[in-house]
Amino acid sequence: MADIQFGVIGNGLRGPLARIAHQPEKGLRVTVVCDIAPANLSNATEWYGNDVTTTGDYRELLADGDIDAVFILTPDYLHEEHACAALEAGKGVYLEKPMAITVEGATRILQTAARTGSTLYVGHNMRHANYVLEMKRLIDRGDIGKVMAIWCRHFVGNGGDFYFRDWHADRRFSNTLLLQKGAHDIDVIHWLGGGYATATQAFGGGFVYANSAHRRVGPAPSPAWSEDDLLTHWPPRELPGVNPVVDVEDLSLVQMQLDNGVLATYDQCHFTPDYWRNFTVIGDEGRLENFGNGEPGTVIRVWNRRSSYEPSGDLRVTVAQGLGGHGGADERCVAEFVGLLRGLEGPTVTSPVAAWHAVATACAASASLRAGGGVERTAELDRATAGLSREAG
Ligand SMILES: NC(=O)c1ccc[n+]([C@@H]2O[C@H](COP(=O)([O-])OP(=O)(O)OC[C@H]3O[C@@H](n4cnc5c(N)ncnc54)[C@H](O)[C@@H]3O)[C@@H](O)[C@H]2O)c1
Repeated sequence: MADIQFGVIGNGLRGPLARIAHQPEKGLRVTVVCDIAPANLSNATEWYGNDVTTTGDYRELLADGDIDAVFILTPDYLHEEHACAALEAGKGVYLEKPMAITVEGATRILQTAARTGSTLYVGHNMRHANYVLEMKRLIDRGDIGKVMAIWCRHFVGNGGDFYFRDWHADRRFSNTLLLQKGAHDIDVIHWLGGGYATATQAFGGGFVYANSAHRRVGPAPSPAWSEDDLLTHWPPRELPGVNPVVDVEDLSLVQMQLDNGVLATYDQCHFTPDYWRNFTVIGDEGRLENFGNGEPGTVIRVWNRRSSYEPSGDLRVTVAQGLGGHGGADERCVAEFVGLLRGLEGPTVTSPVAAWHAVATACAASASLRAGGGVERTAELDRATAGLSREAG
C-alpha cells in the first residue's frame, strides 16, 4: 500500500485526531503541523518525531508537494477557506464538522471537491459511535418497524465551559450552536430517519450566558480549559471568563420534517447539570431509546409490546465499550479516511453530502429561531453537486 504523508492545519483541542493517523509502521506519517498559536505547535516533535516541521502559515504547508492529505482542525469559520485551498492544492482533506458555517460555504467545498477530484471526508464521528451504530442496527433489523418520528434531547451540561468562553460564543465564528454542536445530532437524526430535513421551525434564545456578569473585557485570552473546571463551575450563571461576545443561543427547540415524511424534534440546552444525548426513535411497531453515550452500562432499550409504564423495555442491548477517541469513533473515522486515500472501494459510513445537509438544516432552523419561529424551508442541493460523494450504503 502507498505511503501517505499528512499535514495538520489547526493543532488545538482536536489535534489528537491527527495523531491517530500517525502510524509510521503502516506508512502513515504526519510531517508538517500548522497553527497560528506557537504554543499549540510545541507538542509536534513529541507526537510526530524530530523530522516534523511546523509553520504558522497554512499556505506554506499546502505548497509542500510531498504532503498527500491534510487534517483541517481549525475553528468552524475557517473550514471553507482551508478546505477549498487544500482541495485546490490536490490534497485529500479530512475536514472537521461542521462542514462550514454557511450553506454557501458548504456548497463551495462540495463543488471544489467535485471539480478537483480531490478526496473529501467530513468527520461526523458520531456515526461511528457504538451506541449510534447499535440504534441503526436495531432499526435496520426492523425491531421498531418503519421509523415515523425521532426526538433528540441534548443536555450540554458542559456547554458553558466548552462554548461560551471562546470563539464558539460568537456568531461570526460559529454562526449558531445548532450548527457547531447540533450538526452531530442533526446528522444522526438524518441517518436514523433515512432522509434529510426539508422544513424546520425553532424557538430559542440566550437565557443564561448572554446575561452573564462574568464576561471578559478587552483582549484577554480565552481561559485555558481544564477538567477540574467542569466540576467547580456551577451554577452556570457563575461561570467565570465568559467570552466578551455572546450572541449564540444557549437554549434551542427545533422541529423538522424530513423528505420521507419522518418528523423530528431536536432540543439543545447548554446549562443543564448533566451532559448527555438521548435519542428516542418511534416506529410503527415500537420505539427505542439510548441510555448513556458509550460509558460503561450504556444500553439501548426497545419497547415493542403493549405495556403501561415499563422503564426497562422489552429488549435491552448493552452497547459495546470502545477504546480510543470518542469511544473509538475517531479511530474509525481516520481509518475510513485512510481507506479513501488508498482507493479502497465501498461506501463510507459518513458522507460529505450528509454533512452538507446538516449545515443546511441547522442554518434553516437558526434562521427560523432568529426570525421568531416561522417555518423555514431548508436549502436544496443540486443533483450534480450531490452526485459526487459516496453515501453510506
Ligand atoms: N468531531 C468531534 O467530536 C469534534 C470535537 C471537538 C471539536 N470539533 C471540531 O474541531 C474543530 C476545532 O475545534 P477545537 O475544539 O480543536 O478548537 P480549538 O480552538 O481548540 O483549536 C483550533 C486551533 O486552530 C488554530 N488556528 C486558528 N486559526 C488558524 C489558522 N488560520 N491557521 C492555522 N491554525 C489556526 C488555533 O490556534 C487552535 O490551535 C472545530 O471545527 C470543531 O467543531 C469536532
